Amino acid sequence: MIIAIANQKGGVAKTTSTICLGGILASSGTVLAIDLDPQGNLTTGLGVEVADEQISCYDVITEQAEVIDAVVATKFGISLLPADINLAKGETEILMKVGNFYILKEKLAPILKQYQHILIDCPPSLGLLTVNALAAADVVLIPVQCQFFALKGLAALLETLASVQKRLNPQLRILGVLPTMAENTVMTQDVLDSLKKRLQDIRIFEPVPKSIKFSESNLAGEPIHIYTNDKKLVQPYGAIANLIAEM
Ligand SMILES: Nc1ncnc2c1ncn2[C@@H]1O[C@H](COP(=O)(O)OP(=O)(O)OP(=O)(O)O)[C@@H](O)[C@H]1O
Ligand SMILES: [Mg+2]
Repeated sequence: MIIAIANQKGGVAKTTSTICLGGILASSGTVLAIDLDPQGNLTTGLGVEVADEQISCYDVITEQAEVIDAVVATKFGISLLPADINLAKGETEILMKVGNFYILKEKLAPILKQYQHILIDCPPSLGLLTVNALAAADVVLIPVQCQFFALKGLAALLETLASVQKRLNPQLRILGVLPTMAENTVMTQDVLDSLKKRLQDIRIFEPVPKSIKFSESNLAGEPIHIYTNDKKLVQPYGAIANLIAEM
């Protein structure tokens, strides 16, 4: 099962959600996490540094290496396809390639049987890298920050998803929308109400509360369920992990 974590809006907790879900799923199964963002936050967040000569997502996406040559083991049992800023160059290099939407899908084909769950952390754009993730994925999880402009841009994302379903990947399903950084405020309630009203056919998951513990756990390089046993923070991710594990 390949899960893309996508939203072209920046800072909505895509990477945090990838680490949290990956950590929980890795406690009972095999997980490959793919850093498809040139910012390399997933890579750093899992305590990995890409050395100059190291094979990374850049080499895979530009078809100079296989996934298996680039994967590194991390703590907590998550295997990682790491990325750094070179991946931005890679996205430009494949712009003119025929069939460039399907490179990641093709590269993942030989290793699909090795992992029960493959999580793809997308960059904050709807460019070629994100489209590669959506073309390869079975489902997409959409984190949405409970903030004023949360719904802005969601229409563009849903349109992109519909085009990908129509033209590139008819199997792609929306796993659901995950409200993140939820607070006990009118703003959060407004966002949740609007999501429910606007997205009637899409599952809205239990919101993840806003907490400094997520930044702290990122800094500590630990998935949230290891960093804290605060049920309120872990439970929303646990519920999604359970759903994924049952699919
Ligand atoms: N539930 C939360 N409560 C408070 N802070 C959070 C929460 N989830 C994530 N954060 C923090 O918000 C910031 C953005 O999160 P993250 O990097 O996961 O977002 P992103 O969508 O991957 O960003 P980008 O679009 O730049 O890749 C980080 O500092 C992270 O620690
Ligand atoms: Mg990110």
